[in-house]
Amino acid sequence: MPQPSQPLAPEAGTESVDIPGTALRVSRVALGTWAMGGSNWGGTDERESVITVRTALDQGINLIDTAPAYGFGVSEEIVGSALGAGGLRAQAVISTKVGLEWRDGKVYRNASRERIMREIDDSLRRLRTDHVDIYHVHWPDPLVPIEETAEAMRTLLDQGKIRAIGVSNFSVAQMERFRRVAPLHVLQPPYNLFERDIEAEILPYCRANNIVTLGYGALCRGLLSGRMRHFTHFEGDDLRQHDPKFQPPRFSQYLSAVQQPDQQARVRFHRRVIHLAVRWMLDQGVSVALWGGRHPDQLQSALGVAGWSLDTAALQKIDRILNEAILDPIGPEFMAPPQRATRRRAEVMA
Ligand SMILES: NC(=O)c1ccc[n+]([C@@H]2O[C@H](COP(=O)([O-])OP(=O)(O)OC[C@H]3O[C@@H](n4cnc5c(N)ncnc54)[C@H](OP(=O)(O)O)[C@@H]3O)[C@@H](O)[C@H]2O)c1
Repeated sequence: MPQPSQPLAPEAGTESVDIPGTALRVSRVALGTWAMGGSNWGGTDERESVITVRTALDQGINLIDTAPAYGFGVSEEIVGSALGAGGLRAQAVISTKVGLEWRDGKVYRNASRERIMREIDDSLRRLRTDHVDIYHVHWPDPLVPIEETAEAMRTLLDQGKIRAIGVSNFSVAQMERFRRVAPLHVLQPPYNLFERDIEAEILPYCRANNIVTLGYGALCRGLLSGRMRHFTHFEGDDLRQHDPKFQPPRFSQYLSAVQQPDQQARVRFHRRVIHLAVRWMLDQGVSVALWGGRHPDQLQSALGVAGWSLDTAALQKIDRILNEAILDPIGPEFMAPPQRATRRRAEVMA
């Protein structure tokens, strides 16, 4: 087993998975580009971000996840700029999303047909491409029938503007309704060592129905990196200033829940908790781990994820540590955007 001090070769043991019903094959670690948008993450550095996307490809990470709402177009533009030159687009699988609108810096759900048919062209322009590989409905919209949303997504698939359909933050019941109207290839739910709600129903449902899962928040917004300390503070509009996991007394509980698995990772597997957290996700059966990064050196750790596994004893020990350390667990619900007050006439007519 390679020691952490030894440099790992790019693409060493990269794992990948096919997306059934499509011609796509994606790396099991994907690059998440939310923070590159800057908004909610204390600002962005465009040059660093572009290099990060290209570094991902160099390391065998071919799946790049973005969304219009990440920096209100900025993240998509960065991905487009990173992949727009040197034939890189063909090496990448671009995943983006639809169905959130923004006004005065606030984001609202809007998965109407009218919005979807307009947003795809904005995304294609920002991404400098003629098709999106995986197109997700970002959040279910209670004001729009799921059948309307699904029908619009199916139209885009038929037009060749997208190659696979995904939904994000959907329940099993919502996926069932969606699938009566359109094929569903991918689900993007929250998933990491601390946020495990999908294990009960959603993960088994996706496995049974050949729906590939892209688990987001692999590092729980940095908590599972092993780099955070009690005195870590966040600048500007960084969402972790409001994330309930990062407020006392919970912050201490989550930090201590990371220390012991870090020791376990070092002693038993010659890794660190950042590797263990992502390995754990993949071993639980999620197809892909979405790793949020914006600096090229942050991806170096992704090289320590492939080619090993956690055994039953290790899995049980992790569960025991988490149960003992986290007295007051809380999920990622704080991130859910609100619905709009009402639908506009133009959306209903479209
Ligand atoms: N569909 C949805 O509704 C949804 C929601 C959330 C996320 N997502 C997707 O999932 C992706 C990942 O989620 P996420 O961005 O919330 O966060 P994440 O992967 O849980 O964590 C990202 C954080 O980890 C830190 N980090 C990354 N690599 C590190 C390293 N090697 N060492 C130390 N720290 C490291 C980053 O630090 P810095 O802060 O220092 O850069 C950042 O704070 C997003 O980018 C997005 O593509 C989707």
